[in-house]
Amino acid sequence: MKIPIETGFHWGMLSDYDRNAAYRAAIKATVRGLVVYDLGAGVGPMSYYALQSGARRVYGFEIDRQTFPYLRRLTRTFPQFIPRRTNILRCRLPRDTPQVVVCEMWSTWLSGWPMVQALNRVLRRAPAARVIPSRGHHVAQLVQARHRSGFPIQFPPGTEATLFGDPFATTDMSLPVLACVTDFQRRIPPIDAVVELVPLTTGTVNAIRLYSYEEVSPGRMLPRIGTRGDELLRWITPMRVHQGRRVQVRIRHRWDAGLQVTLADG
Ligand SMILES: C[S@@+](CC[C@H](N)C(=O)[O-])C[C@H]1O[C@@H](n2cnc3c(N)ncnc32)[C@H](O)[C@@H]1O
Repeated sequence: MKIPIETGFHWGMLSDYDRNAAYRAAIKATVRGLVVYDLGAGVGPMSYYALQSGARRVYGFEIDRQTFPYLRRLTRTFPQFIPRRTNILRCRLPRDTPQVVVCEMWSTWLSGWPMVQALNRVLRRAPAARVIPSRGHHVAQLVQARHRSGFPIQFPPGTEATLFGDPFATTDMSLPVLACVTDFQRRIPPIDAVVELVPLTTGTVNAIRLYSYEEVSPGRMLPRIGTRGDELLRWITPMRVHQGRRVQVRIRHRWDAGLQVTLADG
């Protein structure tokens, strides 16, 4: 069999020591003798940790054709591994319900992959399943954003840019504030959070920075470096803010319709 050599972003994730160590420990502590679903399995690191840790059976669901041949290779060593190349949002789920669900499709405010929809679907069938990661902590901050080309374009409000922690692209206009926490251990309701941000200076805000912290197992929070350092800049209509005069930001996420950010001068 010819295996494609394009591993894309999987290389970065496989090289992210903090992420892998935290997931490996959480999986090892949980799966012995149990049925595990790995949602968005990629090339299979989470399935591998579960198989190595004595899971009774592991189902790895992955939509991507290029990635799937790598995932399937795990069956050579682990006959109790069942890879499925499928869309986890629509496929017929196995009869075997999971006792543990690993869903490493992490992104800022859970907006990059259909992670929550996938989890909610599986948790409807298996409400008592233990989920890894444990919780998500979602943060918002007022910023003044610059694009780096030197070309003075004004992005339309609502436009998004993904940053990997580039400190030169923004000036902080408020401290970051924890807006909400998602608990993955039960069905996850849509986010509707209002956060009050206090400007550090008087000036113009033109974007909201959104990012998240991932709590892989209770109390084990990943640092925002490596593949967990991504953040979204959401451009807004430029707004004058005054030092100490709070600004209210409302952030809604219905999971199937993207993030909505609205701003009101408090
Ligand atoms: C962030 S990667 C994580 C990969 C792997 N779990 C890991 O930890 O390295 C998310 C994976 O989810 C897969 N994915 C996204 N949407 C999916 C869907 N609807 N059904 C199945 N897999 C999906 C992507 O192709 C990608 O491989």
